[in-house]
Amino acid sequence: MIKIAASILAADFARLGAQVAEAEAAGADWIHVDVMDGHFVPNITIGPPVVTWVRRCTSLPLDAHLMIERPERHLAAFAEAGVNRLTVHVETCPHLHRTVQQIRSLGMQPGVTINPATPLAALEEILPYVDLVLLMTVNPGFGGQEFIPTMLDKIRRLRDMLDALASSAELEVDGGIDTGTAPAVVAAGATVLVTGTALFGAEDGIAAAIRRLRRACGE
Ligand code: DX5
Ligand code: ZN
Repeated sequence: MIKIAASILAADFARLGAQVAEAEAAGADWIHVDVMDGHFVPNITIGPPVVTWVRRCTSLPLDAHLMIERPERHLAAFAEAGVNRLTVHVETCPHLHRTVQQIRSLGMQPGVTINPATPLAALEEILPYVDLVLLMTVNPGFGGQEFIPTMLDKIRRLRDMLDALASSAELEVDGGIDTGTAPAVVAAGATVLVTGTALFGAEDGIAAAIRRLRRACGE
């Protein structure tokens, strides 16, 4: 069954605890936390103190997506805050293997994230060491953007790379995922769908939005 990671970027931050609880009750599998620093990406969001409070509102795994420069400086703080899976961008880590080892040694499952224009070759050497690959299907920084169609072929090629290694790492996609794009990304080999706008922006609520998404994927 496809996993749904609810991206709180699209939530009402004035009611964050209630929104996270609603996503859990609605059947989300993971809570996706977008961390932005205003350097690697133009936007600024939240850090470990807010994650600590989110942790208290849910028993779901927290999936932190670090869009920050020099992420290695903050890994311990995110582990302490209760993050379960943590992904760093390949574009931000000159010593990616060491960073991935640090994430694992802190008790979190390590993942790597890759921007739309970064070739998959950048992942080749690190794939055997990660539990998760997060493939960006928009340019990181903002919610509510349109899915980049050429990413479908990139998902397929990443699926082939993981299968060739007999890797059980999750293939997570992030950006512009809704009932229109989800079926194709799942068919291409994605196992986890990050969705923000399509869930928290749904007029009929998060539960209805998750049902729609699953149904669109044939579940
Ligand atoms: C974008 C973030 C995404 C974003 C996805 O930089 O990484 O997680 O919240 O949002 P939607 O579902 O609105 O495209
Ligand atoms: Zn994200």
